[in-house]
Amino acid sequence: MQKIKGFSKLSKTDKIAWLAKHFLTSNPLDIAREFSSYMHSNAEMQKLFDGISENTLTNFYLPYGVAPNFVINGRTYVVPMVIEESSVVAAAAAGAKFWSDRGGFNAEVISTTKVGHVHFLWRGDSEKLFHFFDTELKEALLAEVKHLTANMESRGGGLRTLELIDCTELEPEYFQLKATFETMDAMGANFINSVLEAFAECLTEEVKHYKDFSGAEKNAEVVMSILSNYTPECLVKAWVECKVSDLGGFPEANLTAQQFARKFSTAIRIAKHDVYRATTHNKGIFNGIDAVVLATGNDFRAIEACGHAYASKNGQYGSLSDCEIVGDTFRFSITLPLAVGTVGGLTKLHPLAKRSLEMLGNPSAKELMMIIATVGLAQNFSAVKALVTSGIQKGHMKMHLTNILRHFGATDTEIQLATTYFADKTVSFSSVRDFLNNSRNLATEK
Ligand code: MEV
Repeated sequence: MQKIKGFSKLSKTDKIAWLAKHFLTSNPLDIAREFSSYMHSNAEMQKLFDGISENTLTNFYLPYGVAPNFVINGRTYVVPMVIEESSVVAAAAAGAKFWSDRGGFNAEVISTTKVGHVHFLWRGDSEKLFHFFDTELKEALLAEVKHLTANMESRGGGLRTLELIDCTELEPEYFQLKATFETMDAMGANFINSVLEAFAECLTEEVKHYKDFSGAEKNAEVVMSILSNYTPECLVKAWVECKVSDLGGFPEANLTAQQFARKFSTAIRIAKHDVYRATTHNKGIFNGIDAVVLATGNDFRAIEACGHAYASKNGQYGSLSDCEIVGDTFRFSITLPLAVGTVGGLTKLHPLAKRSLEMLGNPSAKELMMIIATVGLAQNFSAVKALVTSGIQKGHMKMHLTNILRHFGATDTEIQLATTYFADKTVSFSSVRDFLNNSRNLATEK
């Protein structure tokens, strides 16, 4: 395969031409036209999108939808969602509607602490290192980052704690400087990493000059300085509850409210016990969470990584949501870490992220944590409700019908006919193909 040097220096047109020549089979002019058709019509806007990443050739479209009727702590939201999977927005909206008729969702932020580490190697008597940290180093480190933390402090945040941790039982000579932060409405990655790198530099210098150190003790080898995306102390809880009898009946599955509640809570317990089910269960939760995280310009990889790590906090990966039936009350909740921001990063730069935040009433980071956790809970409720009643394929394939039809190049009229035809039939790839073939054959015979 063709390799290239200096690809990033080529113009966009030349990048596309090179790619088309060596890696794509269609006519290069058609490829150029195709890429250009997804570019923004406003050159300034396109510049903005190009600036977000590197080696950009065009833009990749994803649907931007909304789920209305989310009542959270008594306030009604329309929630923006960016997602490529059909049924997700419909399921979120259905979950929101179901619970808006039963008092709405409750949510609270439990904590908002972020964390980061300087991971370093140091050889010597650890007691001496701790003494140095307590008597001199900590003060020097704090003084070193004053100019970096001043702005965050003026907003009510900043560095909260700084500790030295002995990790030599895990790895010879391994120590950490562990710092915790409050980053207010920012996700805070840049702020935290800048502070940590300043700590690392200061540490390296200070050990060299400490009077009681000699030989190898004067050398701290910094391995890396980085925030942790595991933020178990940046925690939010969302929950719903109602009388079991208020859950209503589920005639499609021949279930009473009581039977439904029992089956639903069993499904949640299964996702606590079984890692195979837990993974799919939590994936469904992140269908909703990621969609809002993306729509608001936040980092969905960080949110996912943290959520899955948190789901394993007891030593076994399990469901992020919980369900209990106490007396005649049905309670369904989710508790998870969500380190999101409503200032900085893409949140104000990306025009649609900005619009999403406006749609949510320009929330604080805490409010956004509550909204996102709630959407995850609603998503999970709809998925498990479907699973324990009618199954998911019925609704899923109905939503998928249009995608299959488009795959076969169906016209708008054919889509209309197919939607009516499949209203009471099972949708599958082959059944849709057969339907289209039949109706096209009938049309040519006429
Ligand atoms: C599909 O994207 C998500 C579900 O599989 C989630 C679940 O099984 O709970 C429906």
